[in-house]
Amino acid sequence: MRLVVAITGASGAILGIRFLELLQSLGIETHLIISKWGQRTIIDETSYSLTQVKGLANSCYDDDDLSAPPASGSFHADGMAIIPCSMKTLAKVACGLEDTLIARAADVTIKEGRRLALVVREAPLSAIHLENMLKLARLGVTIFPPVPAFYLKPQSLDEMIQNVVKRVAAVFDRGASSQAALEPGHPTEG
Ligand SMILES: Cc1cc2nc3c(=O)[nH]c(=O)nc-3n(C[C@H](O)[C@H](O)[C@H](O)COP(=O)(O)O)c2cc1C
Repeated sequence: MRLVVAITGASGAILGIRFLELLQSLGIETHLIISKWGQRTIIDETSYSLTQVKGLANSCYDDDDLSAPPASGSFHADGMAIIPCSMKTLAKVACGLEDTLIARAADVTIKEGRRLALVVREAPLSAIHLENMLKLARLGVTIFPPVPAFYLKPQSLDEMIQNVVKRVAAVFDRGASSQAALEPGHPTEG
């Protein structure tokens, strides 16, 4: 499996990092794009350097490089995750504004009928945010806010994060890995 992964400037850069680590451990090929503000949140919110984060992916591209492979539908990927996804990037994807590689790759993912998951993070949500999410959900995009699974009684923030990223990964494989991603004994994803 091959996924495009984007990290944008919403709070929660560690979600993107843990997601990349998970995909690496599963042997999934990743193509990473980090927006300018995604780079800033990695530096501000985590102890990872940009070099370390880029090292978790098979390939990395600049967000302003619209000639990079994920900008084309002929680059075959099984899907794309934007994790975390800012409201700005959400809005751009919702209106088809392809001025960055992340927005273009998301548009390509939709037009090619591939799976797109947006790990949107903002609170509270305005009607603009909600309308953008609804528009994309109606197109088949998975809107996946990183909501903690309190019913699992997580003992740490990292445990909460691990649960979220496993469930995002399961979006791309509704078969075996989704079962692995769900905690034993919990019949639904709640
Ligand atoms: C520390 C910090 C935290 C932010 N958190 C959020 C957030 O949680 N959600 C959001 O939509 N925007 C957030 N923003 C604003 C975005 O970074 C800003 O809208 C930016 O233009 C997004 O660009 P991008 O989507 O290309 O990364 C935050 C900005 C900073 C500096």
